[in-house]
Amino acid sequence: MRQEDIDRIAEALDTLKCKTQKEVEEARVKLLGKKGEITALFEDFRNIDRTEKAKFGKVLNELKQKALARIDELKSQAGNDDTQNGPKMDLSMPGDPFELGSRHPVSIVRQEIVDIFRKFGYDVAEGPEIEDDYHVFEALNFPPNHPARDMQDTFFVSAGHLNPLLLRTHTSSVQVRTMERMPVPIRVICPGRVFRNEAISARAHCIFHQVEGLYIDENVTFADLKQAILLFAREMFGPETQIRMRPSYFPFTEPSAEVDVSCNICHGKGCNICKGTGWLEILGCGMVDPNVLEASGIDSKRYSGFAFGMGLERIAMLKWRVNDLRHYFENDMRFLHEFATAPEV
Ligand code: PHE
Repeated sequence: MRQEDIDRIAEALDTLKCKTQKEVEEARVKLLGKKGEITALFEDFRNIDRTEKAKFGKVLNELKQKALARIDELKSQAGNDDTQNGPKMDLSMPGDPFELGSRHPVSIVRQEIVDIFRKFGYDVAEGPEIEDDYHVFEALNFPPNHPARDMQDTFFVSAGHLNPLLLRTHTSSVQVRTMERMPVPIRVICPGRVFRNEAISARAHCIFHQVEGLYIDENVTFADLKQAILLFAREMFGPETQIRMRPSYFPFTEPSAEVDVSCNICHGKGCNICKGTGWLEILGCGMVDPNVLEASGIDSKRYSGFAFGMGLERIAMLKWRVNDLRHYFENDMRFLHEFATAPEV
């Protein structure tokens, strides 16, 4: 072992230059790797004379520490590849912009409907999605054995109870809560998510969205209902829109009707969207059954009212002609992006 060898390596360390991480690693291997110069000196050290051990032990350790520190220093200075020896990234480059989200088609339709009824003086009311039997069925005049109360149609959260909890099957429950809470006159719409035990297909889903409405005052008649629906339909589907009402049945309204709007695609001539009839079904409605008013403490001799309800996916289907309900729930970005340019509502 010679002092000159040690000094030579120490000096070389001071002037060592590396441009890239690869060169730093090569330098490390050359000095400290298995066959490195410093490693070789340590091997020599085993064979030297005892008297020299004290002297060389110290310098050798100092040399090793110096080499390790120098390698670390070079490592932090070197670039990442052979062509780059500046900082690892160009901080002056413009960043990747965040992609702007877009409104979901169901939200767009809900907002449009809410805006229309707001203009007519309706308030928006919301209520719980997990409801009790009373607010979804009992207070709405459903007889005890009505099929909607069946497990085949309704998701129960707790069964075998006098007033079981369930996932609401319509937002009419919010109308009941409103009648319980608010003084007459009442004018509300109730948008919200509803649940029915249906097998998922292009035409049915176990989750969908509704907007239901309720209007209660003195002297409210079927003519008022008809006018409200006609005005709504013209705002929603265009000023030329016609409506027609077909008699129907709901436990909570009497009389009840189903409303069709004139097909705005073929203008009544008949096309595949309206299945050749010229009409599209959009909602259910009727005069609130006196039993429903009384159940919520409203005097049915003095007050009358109408109610209506529609499915938002159904309206969205008519608006954009997306004829598979599943698209509304799968969150496929290709589908959602289709609505990115829809007007901000
Ligand atoms: N609640 C009914 C449904 O979910 C819709 C409706 C509301 C019908 C109000 C008439 C009056 O299908």
